[in-house]
Amino acid sequence: MGPEVVREGIKVLKAVEETHGIDFDLVPYPCGGKHYLEAGEEWPDAAFESCKTADAILLGAIGYPGANLPNGNLAGSGVVFGLRFGLDLYANVRPARLYPGVKHKIHGGLKKVWDPGKVDFVIVRENTEDIYAPIRGTLKRGGFEELAVDSRVITHKGSERVIRFAFELSNRRQGAPLDGKKRVTCVDKSNVLDGCRLFRRVYDRVAEEYPGVERDYAYVDAFMQWMIRGPEAYDVVVTSNLFGDIATDLAAVLQGGMGLAASGNMGDHHAMFEPIHGSAPKYEGQDKANPMGTVLAVQMMLEWLGEKKGDGSLLGASAAVEAAVKAVLSEGKHLTYDLGGKAKCSQVGDALAEAVKKASKPQG
Ligand code: IPM
Ligand code: MG
Repeated sequence: MGPEVVREGIKVLKAVEETHGIDFDLVPYPCGGKHYLEAGEEWPDAAFESCKTADAILLGAIGYPGANLPNGNLAGSGVVFGLRFGLDLYANVRPARLYPGVKHKIHGGLKKVWDPGKVDFVIVRENTEDIYAPIRGTLKRGGFEELAVDSRVITHKGSERVIRFAFELSNRRQGAPLDGKKRVTCVDKSNVLDGCRLFRRVYDRVAEEYPGVERDYAYVDAFMQWMIRGPEAYDVVVTSNLFGDIATDLAAVLQGGMGLAASGNMGDHHAMFEPIHGSAPKYEGQDKANPMGTVLAVQMMLEWLGEKKGDGSLLGASAAVEAAVKAVLSEGKHLTYDLGGKAKCSQVGDALAEAVKKASKPQG
């Protein structure tokens, strides 16, 4: 359902064009597992070059049953990793924020722990190394003697740039909901792994440059339960690639589910924005998926572009898109199944586009 949620993201961009005097030059490309089955390619040859010259990239989702490359990899993963590695998008920024009117996805009996406003942190996931490094292989394929190796690569450079990114982000934020303190939590497994010891040493060095930001450490296993038990203590969390992949799906339950979770893959020159959820093939073609993850990815994209270009109208558009999501959520009339509603994907997109227009009108 990647194309379906992206269609609604574009609808919202069109509403932004109408209301904010911005013109987007939209260049669409097909990609992913289904495209691979139909066209024999993960994406068109021209797509990567085009992404390289684009100001920003919006991606739906990849993955389709039975769509695998000859080497066994998921067809479409070449798109995600082609962009993350090829454009050096080293920081995968994944906010977890519970908006008013949204119920978290944990047993209702504990609801008071997650009042809106108590979940407002960002996980910054390293995005170019760790166990995602394409250094892997298999011996004696098929038999009981089969052996598979995935190498975990952590570098000083890769750690330093993503950790610095996290501290800079904390500096721009309002601090953790619990106490208003700016805080960067280093999540690792440095009690066991060399790579994590390197990561933590680099964290300590970078932290010295930011005396106004509190240091905080957690082993990844313990972090998983603290994040759920006391999300209000977190402001920015920085971690390596695989830990961040796992932690952000769990973090999504604190914000109402994967349907609301957005991400930005950011480098120094390029950025790609995508919902965190996958392609959910069982909902394909049913106009059923929640487009809000994609729309919030559009919101992050507008903010990133606005900051990069020093352009106030893009920043205003980003604020209007977030206001629209909040308005549609708290009104509660146009919600998809995952949030307890009956609305279709396209109806939520319509409501969001309308709300962008409303949010952009001068008040009074
Ligand atoms: C994510 C996804 C991807 C990842 C998959 C689709 C390759 O789970 O963006 O979190 O593992 O990074
Ligand atoms: Mg993931």
